Amino acid sequence: MKTESFRGRDWIDAEIDFTKEEWETLIDVALELKRRFLLGEDHTHILKNKTLYMMFFNQSLRTRSTFEVGIQQLGGFACNLEPGKTYTPARKGFEVPYKTERICDVARVLDRTGDGLAIRMYGEPAHWIYGFANQTMKEFAKYMQIPIINMECDKFHPTQALADMITIKEKFGGFKGLKFVMSWAYSGSTHKPLAVPQSLVLAPTKLGMDVILARPKGLELDPEVIKKCKEFAQQNGSSFEETDSMEDAFKDADIVYPKSWGSLSYLATWDETSGRKTREADLEGMKEIFERNKDWICDQKKLSLIKPSGIYMHCLPADRDMEVTDEVIDGPQSVVYDEAENRLHAHKAIMALLMGGRL
Ligand code: CP
Repeated sequence: MKTESFRGRDWIDAEIDFTKEEWETLIDVALELKRRFLLGEDHTHILKNKTLYMMFFNQSLRTRSTFEVGIQQLGGFACNLEPGKTYTPARKGFEVPYKTERICDVARVLDRTGDGLAIRMYGEPAHWIYGFANQTMKEFAKYMQIPIINMECDKFHPTQALADMITIKEKFGGFKGLKFVMSWAYSGSTHKPLAVPQSLVLAPTKLGMDVILARPKGLELDPEVIKKCKEFAQQNGSSFEETDSMEDAFKDADIVYPKSWGSLSYLATWDETSGRKTREADLEGMKEIFERNKDWICDQKKLSLIKPSGIYMHCLPADRDMEVTDEVIDGPQSVVYDEAENRLHAHKAIMALLMGGRL
């Protein structure tokens, strides 16, 4: 198999920029690193003395802990640059004197001393403008030679998607012929990015699964993402469909992934050239759609529609009694803690190949 070198590449729109073969390589490397971890084999030579800078503009449990522990297990070091405690990196037009520092300066400083920069940003820190955080990561990339790793933006969560594909590989041995359902689910909070559902339709279509997206009216995903999913499905001879019925989607599924996300129609928009907003976000308006669809909960009755061998997935944190019942998430078909565990091995594979590896 011929793959392009991974070293130095950015992991931002990874479901689009990395080929199917490269995703398969990453999964293999993650499983090899998991084997070494479980055997207690030292593998600190892989990124010895390398530094990962991390910036979390939003809260995190799993992503933060596993990147930090992961780089240590590979022999490197994580330096957490907390926005607000450092000068908060800002784009032109969004600067506050002596509180923020323009991204072109932050990027060129960190590029001199680090080996990778991992960023999480969506929602409030991205002014509720859809795509602002994704563009911010690309703004860093413009000024940096070292790889930028997307730890979740407003469009994609590719490190989560990789961990989930590893989990599916472990459970089913492969991808072809599996019916994968990404479904919206109700939450009491509208502060939910589209990153997970968009990554979790792109990655399974890229790897050859038959994918169904279930969502109520008003909670459609980005049309560009849907277009890509259709392209991937065509390339693989598999399928991609959409429905507004959770029950119809669940019938005979191998994998169901019910999860809440926000509505694109209520997020802010902006003109990137002038840096001005062209529409404000309306999170209260969005709440009305959410409240109309409270019955989109994954309960045992709905789960009984999937195959007996089927699995329930969620990236966590889950809103129990809203997105999912305790019976389902704590039940025998739930693999949520396996997914969380595999974040560690997924992140180690990404760092090992992008920050080290062959040229
Ligand atoms: N799934 C996920 O990204 O978890 P955290 O928000 O805890 O990082």
